[in-house]
Amino acid sequence: MVHMRYYPVFLDLAAQPCVVLGGGKLATEKAEGLLEAGATVRVIASRLSPKLEALAADALIEAVDRDYRPGDLAGARLAIDASEDQAINRMSWEEAEAAGVLINVVDRPPQCRFIAPAIVRRDPLLIAISTSGESPFLASALRVRIERWLGREWGPFVALVGGVRRRLRERAVPIADQTRVYKRLLDSDLRTLLRRGRSADADRLAEEIAADPSRRAGRVAVVGSGPGDPDLLTVRARELLAGADYVLHDALIAPETLALCGPDARLEDVGKRGGQVSTVQEDITARLIELARAGHLVVRLKGGDPFVFGRGGEELSDLQQAGVEVVVVPGVTAALAAPAAAGIAVTRRGVASSVAITTAQGPGSMDRLPDLARAADTLVVLMARADLAAVVAVLARTLGGSKGAAVVSKATLPDQRSVSGTLDSIAALADEAAIETPATLVVGDVVSAARVPAGIPNGSRA
Ligand SMILES: C[S@@+](CC[C@H](N)C(=O)[O-])C[C@H]1O[C@@H](n2cnc3c(N)ncnc32)[C@H](O)[C@@H]1O
Repeated sequence: MVHMRYYPVFLDLAAQPCVVLGGGKLATEKAEGLLEAGATVRVIASRLSPKLEALAADALIEAVDRDYRPGDLAGARLAIDASEDQAINRMSWEEAEAAGVLINVVDRPPQCRFIAPAIVRRDPLLIAISTSGESPFLASALRVRIERWLGREWGPFVALVGGVRRRLRERAVPIADQTRVYKRLLDSDLRTLLRRGRSADADRLAEEIAADPSRRAGRVAVVGSGPGDPDLLTVRARELLAGADYVLHDALIAPETLALCGPDARLEDVGKRGGQVSTVQEDITARLIELARAGHLVVRLKGGDPFVFGRGGEELSDLQQAGVEVVVVPGVTAALAAPAAAGIAVTRRGVASSVAITTAQGPGSMDRLPDLARAADTLVVLMARADLAAVVAVLARTLGGSKGAAVVSKATLPDQRSVSGTLDSIAALADEAAIETPATLVVGDVVSAARVPAGIPNGSRA
């Protein structure tokens, strides 16, 4: 078993006698924290801060106007020694240990029966963070991140869910139905409504969801996963992955991204890859409809943006036609992320003020290239690796062989590589460097304006 340095608990200190030693800034903070938890606080110190004096004057704390003496902890549930006096520290620790009082001698870990975590307060939600004393800095850095992640709406949201839970239990709603309601509450617009201050609408929505616990309200979210790096997922995509019952994903989704799915999520690889066993589009759509109708929260996870050569448009129409509730969550498309990750700005003042995105695969793709190349300053061609020589030959005839061209492979992933040159040289350079799929071709003066190493595979991210 892995050794855990501390056993985490939340203490109910309401009306419990607690003692704070010391009257300075630290002691004041500790006394205030205990007061907020409803404790009966006694502060023992020969000198009190103005704040502590005010609290004593208002009878919110009991102040004992002298330094600690052995015996002062008698009857206390918990004690905090913030006296910053070594002799007092030693004596208070000995007394607390002998009497079985939980004590924290501030800044003296060996003399602490408990430690104070960094906390994120979204009452009634309370999140405690501890590094077991290793790094208070990291604990507080994490606190700041969690605070940003869990906005203020989480407080009223948790309270609302708590109210629903009490009512469902009073109605003796079976646990399975209760869980279905909680999932729907979590997945609903409740937090958005609360964030916008529309609490009456939130109450109504929560009531509506709770009124029909056995309803199987399935839904499909068509979600873009970005070009590969999980850090480029949207916050919404992460949320949906964490709460999904099923995730039907493309073949090229990074394992780190799939690892963001909740522990109970069932993953189905429906990736369509040239030359390999693939799931036909109709089967994917049928499966999405089947799962949504069975009441599941389904994420259809696609590379990049679902609507940029991702067949998201067709899936959306089919699902809508089948009467399934659908939400679309855009992703960062490789068409923009691949050039960006290689340091190529697809628009640039004085160099390029228009971009066209196309594909080298599918009917008419080659015929489209000359017109597109003439119309836009920068041309981004997806799925260009297999027919790269043919694609650049067509473009060279339109734009001239000296036009800048780059190929970026596995953009934003640890093994990203890119080569750059001209339309005349790029196919050979890509072959020499054994550039693999997925790869994106970028053509235009923006390539020459960027500092992509000419012809040298760029092993690290730009
Ligand atoms: C079927 S398209 C899907 C595009 C996707 N919907 C998007 O918005 O990024 C697949 C093509 O996207 C490009 N692509 C996807 N991920 C890439 C990556 N990490 N690096 C470079 N190109 C990528 C390649 O051109 C690949 O052949």
